[in-house]
Amino acid sequence: MRTTVGIIGAGPAGLLLARLLHNAGIDSVVLESRDRAYVERRQRAGILEQGTVDVLREAGAGARMDREGLPHDGIELRFDRRRHRVDFPALTGGRSVTVYAQTEVCKDLIALRLAEGGPLLFEAEALAVEDAETHSPRIRYHHQGRESVLECDYVVGCDGFWGVARKAVPETLSRAFERTYPFGWLGILADVPPSHDELVYARHDRGFALLSMRSPSVTRAYLQVPDGTDAADWAAEEIWDELDRRLETDDPTWTLRRGPVTAKSVTPMRSYVHEPMRHGRLFLAGDAAHIVPPTGAKGLNLAVGDVVTFARALALLREKGDPSRLDAYSETCLRRVWQAERFSYAMTTLLHRAPDATPFDDRVQLAALDRITTTRSAETDLAEAYTGFPFDEPQ
Ligand code: FAD
Ligand code: DHB
Repeated sequence: MRTTVGIIGAGPAGLLLARLLHNAGIDSVVLESRDRAYVERRQRAGILEQGTVDVLREAGAGARMDREGLPHDGIELRFDRRRHRVDFPALTGGRSVTVYAQTEVCKDLIALRLAEGGPLLFEAEALAVEDAETHSPRIRYHHQGRESVLECDYVVGCDGFWGVARKAVPETLSRAFERTYPFGWLGILADVPPSHDELVYARHDRGFALLSMRSPSVTRAYLQVPDGTDAADWAAEEIWDELDRRLETDDPTWTLRRGPVTAKSVTPMRSYVHEPMRHGRLFLAGDAAHIVPPTGAKGLNLAVGDVVTFARALALLREKGDPSRLDAYSETCLRRVWQAERFSYAMTTLLHRAPDATPFDDRVQLAALDRITTTRSAETDLAEAYTGFPFDEPQ
């Protein structure tokens, strides 16, 4: 098989890239190792930045998001029994975010891809990327019981942190920057309306808690838990009790709504960046190139930024013969990636309690929160980063 762009992975990065290329008249083939049901059910991110919403709309993939997504104009910071609302539009000149689950973004993009007839092969596992330095890179893959080769002009590795694409960059040219955290998130879905109409990020001496949502009738919530925690060790009532403790406030109107827990899982926390994000005609996008800890909800939005940058750069080359943006792909993406890394790290350390935290560390966290909630410039900095850095800004 032969195509212009071989895409490995049908997560949000790979699926959106296929759509953007289709709209630009560029053909592609998507290879996905898992089956469709698995990709459509995998519970992950839930917050779309303003720029991500705009891109999905422009790509013709925003109809259901516009009907069912929940626009949010702020978040609540809760600490020291206090509640503070961060007003995004007021601080950013009108920007906001939208609650619309990654599962739904993927479902919409899969339906569009299959309707437009573009190849999207499920249960097709990429084994290796070969000849990335040449003009005709190849993907070796396994599908329907046999090994095949996809000949490409370009390969985009959208295959997540555990994928194969990154391995095709020679070790001598690769640099990895990494940080692990001694805690993770226990995440639940529950059949109960959200307790608050916006997300609540809570800093507490017992650890971080986050109240989010998936729809007006489904709550999503997270608790900071020690590394190595097994979700099965937490009974539903224990999770609600712990959320109640960490969300404590002096506001007498606050109550936590409890309901049946329908899903539970633990996500480890990691910061990781692979440089460069390009080797020859192989381009890395999304989690294949970088991971952020989830505090601040940047992972999915970063993946979108990468593929927008690639698609625009390739369109410029094909339409105007100008390779400059494609050549600058790695630098352009990394600039935004490092801003998101910085923000996600800062939000994580601001709100989580490290196992070895001292009373001094606690006071510094509270002082930082006090500063954000009483100083417009500090609050604006948070609001700008949360609602998103611009895509595709040439250097
Ligand atoms: P992925 O979504 O990982 O997609 C990669 C795809 O490639 C997968 O479908 C995979 O099956 C496929 N693949 C892998 N290897 C191969 C191969 N060899 N051949 C073919 N296909 C392959 N972010 C947030 O903002 N908030 C959250 O709450 C949050 N929770 C998360 C929970 C978990 C468990 C994980 C892993 C991530 C979470 N993230 C969260 C991050 C966010 O979901 C990711 O940043 C986002 O999914 C990145 O999209 P992607 O398309 O780059 O990668
Ligand atoms: C969600 C995840 C996040 O990482 C975050 O910061 C906010 C919300 C969510 O899954 O709803």
